[in-house]
Amino acid sequence: MSRLIIEGGRPLCGELRIQGAKNSALPILTSALLCDSPSIIHNCPDLSDVEASCSILKYLGCEITRVGENVCIDPSGADKFDIPEDLMREMRSSIVFLGAICAKLGKARISFPGGCELGPRPIDLHLSALKQLGVVIEEDHGWLNCHVDGRLHGANIVMSFPSVGATENIMLAAATAQGTTTIVNAAREPEIDDVADFLRQCGAKISGTGESIITIEGVSHLKGCEHTVMPDRIVAATYMAATGITGGDLTLTGVNIRHLSPVLPAFFEAGCEIYTEGDLIHIQRRGPLKSVKYVRTMPYPGFPTDAQAPIMAMSTKAYGTSIFIENIFENRYKHAAELVRLGANIKVEGKVAIVEGTENLFGAAVEATDLRGGAALVVAGLAAEGKTVVTGLHHIDRGYAGIEAELSTLGAKIYRM
Ligand code: EPZ
Repeated sequence: MSRLIIEGGRPLCGELRIQGAKNSALPILTSALLCDSPSIIHNCPDLSDVEASCSILKYLGCEITRVGENVCIDPSGADKFDIPEDLMREMRSSIVFLGAICAKLGKARISFPGGCELGPRPIDLHLSALKQLGVVIEEDHGWLNCHVDGRLHGANIVMSFPSVGATENIMLAAATAQGTTTIVNAAREPEIDDVADFLRQCGAKISGTGESIITIEGVSHLKGCEHTVMPDRIVAATYMAATGITGGDLTLTGVNIRHLSPVLPAFFEAGCEIYTEGDLIHIQRRGPLKSVKYVRTMPYPGFPTDAQAPIMAMSTKAYGTSIFIENIFENRYKHAAELVRLGANIKVEGKVAIVEGTENLFGAAVEATDLRGGAALVVAGLAAEGKTVVTGLHHIDRGYAGIEAELSTLGAKIYRM
């Protein structure tokens, strides 16, 4: 079993270009299926989830060519409408194929998706929305058998929660549907904007992304395009947390500052100095690391739930008490118990976690149980005395491209065995 070995106690210093965003690349790869000609996706991160998406596209009949962070998807041969269970279980985002396959082929057969275990992750909002667009869905022993009589049609969809995945699924299904669809209480995450930008370049008529009401005027067909995936705001926040806890000096390039605005207050509160210019952000921590009073995770533009774990890791070595309130997922504190193995002082009560900062962390063997929780263990290990051994790397590799190589360029002593 491969593991990361971290010898902590070195401040992170240097410059790093931020990878493309996993949570944008995945739905964009899926969207390419809708086109009747090839698309080229640039800045597509080298992640196991991207690999999983490409495997599904290949299974469906697409031709995939990858050269570094550039992926070409030719969907002209895609004629399959089912996805094998093992491919569906690899990740949560596979559910977004449902809207795309129904739009392209008028039928689909998939099982329930996999992905990080963060508590219950139902797909009711996806299914009720697709039904309103004209998809007939029969559930059969864990499988969803879907068909469309004729063509998908527009609808006025009001969502009870601004689900990211459901908003994407609706956009993909409605882009070539007959008539106009509105999504009320849509997700406003920047990744939604990026997917819509891709679809717009393919000829889709989508407006209002970034706001709570999105309008999609269906078009008869989409053609392939060339698109560059936006930078990953959560990876950026993770490396900033690693700089905060180690007392480093880091410049990140290729970032989108606006996308980072929900997390910046936490770094200012922690005593970090931040300077931004264009697509560059510089973070430095020279004085004492201070606690982050309250972190409440919310849909965008609130504080992102995906940054909760890395920022919690940073606050374990801060002076004072930090309080976290996880509002998005029911069970997203599994990393807390592992951080306690490193000497952190964390109490969890339901959706509230209270972190009492401690002067020192000590290296130990810890296990990643999900993607961001795994990243949090790396952040803490970088500041712990002695050796930290992190296992469960398949979780981390889903969202961080070459994490040990990136951190080594910044002076960290970290290697994979
Ligand atoms: C996306 O997941 C991201 N994943 C997640 O990032 C992220 O944590 C999440 O959005 C919230 O920002 C990808 O983009 C691939 P949701 P998604 O649908 O689409 C409930 C990471 O670390 N819900 O917005 O699955 C759901 O249970 C990952 O990169 C329903 O109740 O998130 C959750 O409590 C982890 N019914 C809440 O909404 C539904 O039909 C938010 O889920 C759908 C969702």
